[in-house]
Amino acid sequence: MIKVPRGTEDILPEQTKKWQFVEKQLKQLANVYHYDEIRTPIFEQTELFQRGVGDTTDIVQKEMYSFTDRGGRSLTLRPEGTASVVRSYVQHKMFGLPGQPVKLFYYGPMFRYERPQKGRTRQFVQFGIEAIGSNDPAIDAEVMAFALDCYKVLGLKSLRLVLNSLGDKESRENHRQALILHFAPHREELCGDCQTRLEKNPLRVLDCKKDKDHPAMATAPSILDHLNDESKSYFEKVKAYLDQMGIDYEIDPKLVRGLDYYNHTAFEIMSDAEGFGAITTLSGGGRYNGLVEELGGPETPGIGFACSIERLLLALEAEGITLPVEDELDCYVVAMGEEAKKEATRIIYSLRHAGISCDIDYMGKKMKAQFKAADRSKAKFVAILGENELAAGSMNIKDMALGEQVDVPLTEIESHLKTKLYRERSHNE
Ligand code: HAM
Repeated sequence: MIKVPRGTEDILPEQTKKWQFVEKQLKQLANVYHYDEIRTPIFEQTELFQRGVGDTTDIVQKEMYSFTDRGGRSLTLRPEGTASVVRSYVQHKMFGLPGQPVKLFYYGPMFRYERPQKGRTRQFVQFGIEAIGSNDPAIDAEVMAFALDCYKVLGLKSLRLVLNSLGDKESRENHRQALILHFAPHREELCGDCQTRLEKNPLRVLDCKKDKDHPAMATAPSILDHLNDESKSYFEKVKAYLDQMGIDYEIDPKLVRGLDYYNHTAFEIMSDAEGFGAITTLSGGGRYNGLVEELGGPETPGIGFACSIERLLLALEAEGITLPVEDELDCYVVAMGEEAKKEATRIIYSLRHAGISCDIDYMGKKMKAQFKAADRSKAKFVAILGENELAAGSMNIKDMALGEQVDVPLTEIESHLKTKLYRERSHNE
């Protein structure tokens, strides 16, 4: 039997309904925050991620699905969305648009060759936003508020916003030197990757999964002690805007994030829900002021975040939240006999054109079994067309919620159902 590749999964219809519900809510939120959708290709030139995400990151070194196409080009299934969005911003010269910052959101599959576990798959769907073009600390707060709202709109409560500042270039250089000095005496005790990282990008050492329990990690110099005045002041303003909105946060000087493009604000939303699993990060993001330039555009600031729908659904499960998703069939038609089946086919065709969802048996079931199927379909109405009804030119329509049954002339079925469904919908709203 051929199964799905390791680290991927089928999303079956019962689950798909939840996905659609979540997707709709997130897109509505994007609308409320005034972000427009962008859709970029699922694969990009490999160089984009090497330059964008960073050569020393785990993503680029170990996790990319790269391949050579028939034209000899190296392409990579996107491991994340930011590099692609910024590439598109530069390629389409969006920096020249009058409405800056350009506020974009995306929704789609990403691919990372990671060790699969609960909340970590090799194909996952990210919803993310990018606000490119503004250096205003208020937009950092907006992005974090948005990130939290993705969970709040769905009823999640056990949330924690964890925040850090990685400072500007000068601050990071100061911190870099301090990290090199700190880890140099322990060089030989660190893993091979960290020994390379220490030379190329010592900040990555702090993110190492293998060396995380080394005693030198706990005493490593904090970035917050190396922020210059400008970076400190920027961080203070970001926090003040969060305070304005009444958003709680925790500062974690060890939060460095796994991608190289970050500076200043870096944050993650964590779940505290019991049973959420070993990975407690729901989403992450931050500021990437050098990225537009790195990808060939003018000096332009940017900030964003992304979350996976997989982890969001796990959090909902952990907090015992059921989404209001139901089967939505309006009418199941039970037809008895060859002639009735023919007439019913014509009727459901026109009902569907009128926007009424309907279904009928295609398994040659007897009457009793058709009623069972109608029940299973959770249809709001069951319409019966037997020999008697056919002779009378009517259908018997049963309102499944009220248990009421009426004979309705065939010419009035559509208007009858429409009136009833309209009443029901307005009653539910
Ligand atoms: P990231 O922290 O690598 O950042 O990923 C963001 C989110 O994607 C994670 O918090 C998690 O929800 C989800 N995620 C990542 N890997 C997996 C996986 N293997 N399985 C399931 N979910 C996963 C970024 O991707 C940045 N582009 C975020 C960003 C946008 N920063 C600025 N703008």
